[in-house]
Amino acid sequence: MTETATTKIPTHIAIIMDGNGRWAQRCGLPRLRGHEEGARSVRAVVKACRDAGVKYLTLYAFSVENWVRPKVEIAGLMRLLRRFLRSRERELRDNKVRLRVMGRVEDFPAEVREELARVIKATESRDSGHLILALSYGGRAEIARAAREIARRVQAGEIAPAQVDENMVARHLYLPDVPDPDLLIRTGGEMRISNFLLWQVSYTELYVTPVLWPDFREKELHEAIAEYGRRQRRFGGIDPARGTESR
Ligand code: FPP
Repeated sequence: MTETATTKIPTHIAIIMDGNGRWAQRCGLPRLRGHEEGARSVRAVVKACRDAGVKYLTLYAFSVENWVRPKVEIAGLMRLLRRFLRSRERELRDNKVRLRVMGRVEDFPAEVREELARVIKATESRDSGHLILALSYGGRAEIARAAREIARRVQAGEIAPAQVDENMVARHLYLPDVPDPDLLIRTGGEMRISNFLLWQVSYTELYVTPVLWPDFREKELHEAIAEYGRRQRRFGGIDPARGTESR
């Protein structure tokens, strides 16, 4: 029996997939080869999450800041994303996984948007699991967008300023029905949030591993889930064992 068979499974895992470039450099290969190998990890982790019973998986696939990368790297990432969508559509459908996106998807080239729209439509009735791709995503941009929409509604007289509370803000984020992540994994060892899900990770357990994303597969996912199972989540309450207050 694997350790995940006996441990508590997070409902929602979010991942900052970092280290593709370093992986390629270590192997003496061009950066794109690192992204290609990273796409294989995406496939492996999506499957492992489904098998483990993780209901939501959010992957930071492209940040709003990533547009400053060299044109060839951006083009390569777009190609990989399209290839992933084309080659995995059937698998997602058969496994009842619904594809969703969050971010400024309108920034993407038409061919990618069309492919995304097709797979989103083809999987929209599936609900065993949700695969959420954060694309041209930024946490600050998401919060600013919510604030803009709330301001517009206040101005239109639909809501009063006094009604603007945390629930209202949460309802104006990209995917209001998706629960906050229980576990945020960052590969590649950096101790940063990098503008990912800023609102949603307030009480999320953080797990940073030095393993580079192309080397992060099923075994590494199970290790992260096992570590999550050992954490005591208190949400600002009291640790019953120690009687001490904790955030
Ligand atoms: C960060 O590594 C990774 C990215 C910016 C892109 C992630 C993309 C993939 C895993 C492949 C395609 C995605 C899908 C959903 C099929 P980095 O390049 O910043 O690595 P470094 O810090 O070592 O340079």
